[in-house]
Amino acid sequence: MKMMILAFFFFLMVLSSTSSPLPPPPPSLSDGLSLELIPPHSPKSPFYHSNLVNPLVSPYKQGVVVKIGIGTIDIEDDVAYKSYLLVFDTGSDLIWIQCEECKIQDENHRCYPQKEEPFPDSKSRTYQPLPSSYPLCKYGRSDEKGRCIYTVKYKTGSINSTGVLSSETFRFLSTSSPSGTEKVREIVFGCGYKNYDDDRNDGDAYQIAGIFGMSPGPLSFLSQYKGKKFSYCMVPRHVKNPPPTYLRFASEVKPLTRFQTVDLLMTKATKSLFILQLEDLGVNGKRLRIDRRRLGNQQLVVDSGSTNSLMLNGAHEKLVSKLDSILITATGDFKKDVVTFEDQICYKRMRKPQGFTANIPSVNYYFKGGAHLDLPPQNVFVQKLKRNTEWFCFNIFPDQQMNLLGAYQQADFKFIFDIKKNKLQFGPENCAQNS
Ligand SMILES: *[C@@H]1O[C@H](CO)[C@@H](O)[C@H](O)[C@H]1NC(C)=O
Repeated sequence: MKMMILAFFFFLMVLSSTSSPLPPPPPSLSDGLSLELIPPHSPKSPFYHSNLVNPLVSPYKQGVVVKIGIGTIDIEDDVAYKSYLLVFDTGSDLIWIQCEECKIQDENHRCYPQKEEPFPDSKSRTYQPLPSSYPLCKYGRSDEKGRCIYTVKYKTGSINSTGVLSSETFRFLSTSSPSGTEKVREIVFGCGYKNYDDDRNDGDAYQIAGIFGMSPGPLSFLSQYKGKKFSYCMVPRHVKNPPPTYLRFASEVKPLTRFQTVDLLMTKATKSLFILQLEDLGVNGKRLRIDRRRLGNQQLVVDSGSTNSLMLNGAHEKLVSKLDSILITATGDFKKDVVTFEDQICYKRMRKPQGFTANIPSVNYYFKGGAHLDLPPQNVFVQKLKRNTEWFCFNIFPDQQMNLLGAYQQADFKFIFDIKKNKLQFGPENCAQNS
């Protein structure tokens, strides 16, 4: 599974001092906001490859991005800002971008190749580095100038950033604002001077400038923004030229008509991630009655920044043996083919390609409190076609550490997170028509 999983899951911040709980940041904005989410298969996405004949053949390993404007830069008489694309990540909290200091050529500084110039913070009137005494610096350390230095790493290990915790004005292209942009002052973010992104594969054309953290952790945009409720709906990969969908906050959130509700687990240990309590798994609506221990601590992390899903080895094994018994034994139409695509488990159809027909199974997650997420086959398998052969590749990968619900599995569901009530509402939705 090497590079298949792009897990932008918050992993570690260097911890130095301990300090008392923080006061919330001052509310500086109205609570409605809707930002366009750009899926990887949109021509507007930096991940889009227009030369692909069949987009389903390529592994789905790129994230959904948002465009933000940052800084206040005087260009002649005009006040301008810089625009960047950041990965939308409910699995981490810090917002960070590459800043100009990364261009210094020594072992303490590094930029990964990026199309846009790194953010020129020295030219921005509203840019402020934060001192190590700043309350939100509790996960950071001080450099010799007294600035607060952060480090973020993610689960894959191929992405990380070190830099200066800073404050800056952000601008969002917002459909809900008459001017078309919404300005939010004094957002705390990481101005990265030593950055790695080894998942990128297109060199200088790469347009991802950083990560837009949306977990419930203290440094995320969600924690800094007045609106404590947000929704999103991601268009599935097979929709060509996907229309815009929106990350909506508070008064902009449109209610779901058909939905289930599940509690967000908000203990001291879990409150920096969106975690659901998982009780069982199922296939085609039938519970597998998995031994609880196979589900580990029974926690499922909801992570938009990870393309694929993860499941603890023990539970994954049970699920795969059920899929085997349906696809291979019962139908007799499929053969297991593990080696073909980067260690992914694939089922090869022994007849001519037929697409997602009735005998491709669905997978169910059963949560504490009775809610269940029923993933249709299209959210569970990636169909791969080569000449006249068809594979269905299981897009939930085994893991030693955690259960995680990634973006591919979340397509065509609308999710409404409410961190005041600690609830998640979700329901099937045609995201291309109603986001
Ligand atoms: C960041 O990632 C690079 C490349 O994978 C690695 O060499 C480096 O040690 C990492 N930095 C930190 C702080 O973990």
